[in-house]
Amino acid sequence: DSGQRARLLAAHKEAAEFYQRQLTSPEAAIGRRFLMDRGFQAADAAHFGVGYAPNEWEALVRHLRAHGFTDQEMITGGLAVQGQRGPRDRFRGRLVWPIRDVSGDVIGFGARKLIEADNGPKYLNTNETPIYHKSSILYGLDLAKNAIGKANKAVIVEGYTDVMACHLAGETTAIATCGTAFGEDHIRVLRRMLLDRDEGRGEVIFTFDGDSAGQRAALRAFENDDKFSSQTFVAVQPDGLDPCDLRIKEGDAAVRDLVASRVALYEFAIRNAIANYDLDNPDGQMKALDAVAPIVAGIRDAGRRKVWAGRVDRWIGLMDEQLVLGRVAQH
Ligand code: CTP
Ligand code: MN
Ligand code: MN
Ligand code: MN
Ligand code: MN
Repeated sequence: DSGQRARLLAAHKEAAEFYQRQLTSPEAAIGRRFLMDRGFQAADAAHFGVGYAPNEWEALVRHLRAHGFTDQEMITGGLAVQGQRGPRDRFRGRLVWPIRDVSGDVIGFGARKLIEADNGPKYLNTNETPIYHKSSILYGLDLAKNAIGKANKAVIVEGYTDVMACHLAGETTAIATCGTAFGEDHIRVLRRMLLDRDEGRGEVIFTFDGDSAGQRAALRAFENDDKFSSQTFVAVQPDGLDPCDLRIKEGDAAVRDLVASRVALYEFAIRNAIANYDLDNPDGQMKALDAVAPIVAGIRDAGRRKVWAGRVDRWIGLMDEQLVLGRVAQH
């Protein structure tokens, strides 16, 4: 209900302020060092509201109690977990990124461990709660929404630090999912912000990590591509870096250049499939054709389908567009 929602939002606002203050504590030196090593100044961290969760069991719990929040509210909101002797802080000894909804209210946190040997995953995110639904949340959308509407485009990156790096590099349409794959619910949220213009629907550019996980994520996004059709692009850094790494190594312009180097998701998916085969012999060529035919067949618009079939013909080196179209028609 709306009363509960308001309480949970208030608790999150209080928690975010608490974490942000903790970032200046002596204990948080390791967190400040992490941010500095990532190329972020104190003002950058403040802009994104980055904070630090003390390495204690009840630091936030005590603070929220003092501000009138109940143990049940902390647990329901995912800020605390039920322990043997009452609620315990969920996030401990981690850097925390407040995750805001599109109107700017904090609804959860993403938290990174700072000591490799510590227990738990590298990133710990808020679990599903009455106000936090991970399947539809896009980190950074509150900061990016105006730019997305204006440019009629959105850049999707993998991580919180990548969103920060992109925004600081001038790519202010950048957003990220929060510990999940980009899926149907995210698409629905984004679709509302991208305008239907000239048949196009606004560009969506997946700028995932240049590692195999990032490649897989881009291809998985392709499976959900129906809603975006030909307006979906991929920009993958060749050296295995993510946008945050790239900015540290080569600067702001390199991040903008990476986004500008995007290729159509269809091209990315088709070339990926083709790359698995030896095109020097006819057997390999036919196998490559069989691998990409279903991809081309999935393109709904007949004119576009024909254009892509022509490209496939060239990439595989068949010089027989009818053969390609014939295989595509079988799917
Ligand atoms: N992620 C997660 N849980 C993990 C690992 C990753 O939720 N155990 C999510 C986080 O949102 C993370 C994103 O997946 O930001 C991308 O993962 P990865 O590339 O491993 O993280 P980076 O953001 O690049 O982390 P860092 O640079 O801090 O090592
Ligand atoms: Mn207060
Ligand atoms: Mn990665
Ligand atoms: Mn990274
Ligand atoms: Mn990464």
